[in-house]
Amino acid sequence: MIPKRLTKMKLPLTKMKLPYFFQQFLGFLAVIILLMTITIISLVLFGRRTALNDTENRLFSYAESVINEDINPTQLDTIRQVLAEQEVSFFVFNKNGTILYPNLPNNFRANIDDEQLNQLESGERISLTTHSEDLLGNPSETTLVYLPYFNENNQDFAGFITVTAPVSHINRQMEELKGDLFSAFLISAMAAILLSVIFAHYQVKRVNRLRKAAHKVAGGEYTIQLEHSERDEIDFLTRDFNRMVVALKESQDEVLNQEERRKSFMQDAAHEMRTPLTTINGLLEGLEHDVIPESQRLRSIKLMRKETRRLIRLVSENMDYENIRSNRIILSKHRIPLTEIVEEISEQMKEIIKDSSNELVIGDMEHLHVYADYDRLKQILVNLIKNAIQFTENGTITIASKKVKNGTEITISDTGIGMTEFQIGNIWERYYKADLSRTKTKFGESGLGLAIVQQLVQLHNANIYVESKVNEGTIFTIIFPDKE
Ligand SMILES: Nc1ncnc2c1ncn2[C@@H]1O[C@H](COP(=O)(O)OP(=O)(O)OP(=O)(O)O)[C@@H](O)[C@H]1O
Ligand SMILES: [Mg+2]
Repeated sequence: MIPKRLTKMKLPLTKMKLPYFFQQFLGFLAVIILLMTITIISLVLFGRRTALNDTENRLFSYAESVINEDINPTQLDTIRQVLAEQEVSFFVFNKNGTILYPNLPNNFRANIDDEQLNQLESGERISLTTHSEDLLGNPSETTLVYLPYFNENNQDFAGFITVTAPVSHINRQMEELKGDLFSAFLISAMAAILLSVIFAHYQVKRVNRLRKAAHKVAGGEYTIQLEHSERDEIDFLTRDFNRMVVALKESQDEVLNQEERRKSFMQDAAHEMRTPLTTINGLLEGLEHDVIPESQRLRSIKLMRKETRRLIRLVSENMDYENIRSNRIILSKHRIPLTEIVEEISEQMKEIIKDSSNELVIGDMEHLHVYADYDRLKQILVNLIKNAIQFTENGTITIASKKVKNGTEITISDTGIGMTEFQIGNIWERYYKADLSRTKTKFGESGLGLAIVQQLVQLHNANIYVESKVNEGTIFTIIFPDKE
């Protein structure tokens, strides 16, 4: 049955475009934006850490420069003025945490607990801390560091210095960083959108190309092959699509072929049967109307029997051929000694050979074996030998064999009429007879022999070749594979 073509099927080629495009677009965009967000958050955190470190280092270096000066009020005033321009101020305390500089009421104390004081006493500095008000108690977010100083003579803990700066310093730095990052984010987001559109468009285009091709195949166009590289899944899908189209084409061809064969089989079989049936019918009519003389009656009956046998042979060979073709026969393969089977065949064909005025030569095949089904191997050889005899007059038919790589080769050669290139191209066809004038021989005339041989050879996974020259002869070569 030939499947109905699907030409009527309408596929909405353009309707579905947007969703897949957006899926791709949003997918790409989400990945890019997510990456950008992670990068920006990391950068902000890193920037903040760096800014805090910077401030801390700066404040400590101010504290150190204050300590390096002899603590004398005039110089301290100068330093204080310079630092004030940068909104930095410092305070000097004695070891009890009482203010020494600047001049502030005695009860002004460092905002420090005992644990921190102990830390300073043991020589450790206290790194950057942030407070919601400055040392003077004004509500302004402030960062500060503490650095201890020691008595020059005995190195005893003498007090500590606090340097403070408003948090707005760091915040300003952060604002700048955020501003830069925001601009970078905007530019990258635009680039990301553009890239996503290009990517999504590219992918959708590739999928649509496949869809259009699939649509055409559904409409019966089996010649389509799409170009592709070997980069990604869509390329592999395209490659598989191409293979699928080839397979579809093959099965479509096979279906058409089978249909063709079925038709020609019916025609050929009818044609082949008509000749013997007409002969039998003519003779029967003759007998019925008594127009065949008594002396010819026996001959007529013999002729009818011959034609009936021919019909039976035709039917059974056809059935055999069909059974082999449709895998309905099972081979029982063995290692067969060639001498044995060839001797058996030549014994059976002794009469035919004698009648044919040909000579049969059997080559040396001692120790050679063929891995095959005994009866089917015999059928193959008998068919080929019969053909050789049939198409040779006063000549020689030679059966030879030799071991080849991974198998055994058998050749059946004759010195007969040979065949033209055209004939060689057709002999495997069922009912093909190259030389119609030569077909009315006693060996066969249905043109089925080689068609059956070919099927049997295929069933054995063997190969058959033919070489032939007109008026010189023909060589059939079969190579049977060894048992694996
Ligand atoms: N050895 C050969 N020399 C010359 N022609 C050959 C030889 N073998 C086969 N042919 C040609 O190939 C044709 C097909 O052979 P095939 O054996 O299929 O049919 P057949 O011998 O005519 O009939 P069947 O074998 O069915 O009785 C033959 O009719 C003949 O023309
Ligand atoms: Mg034949």
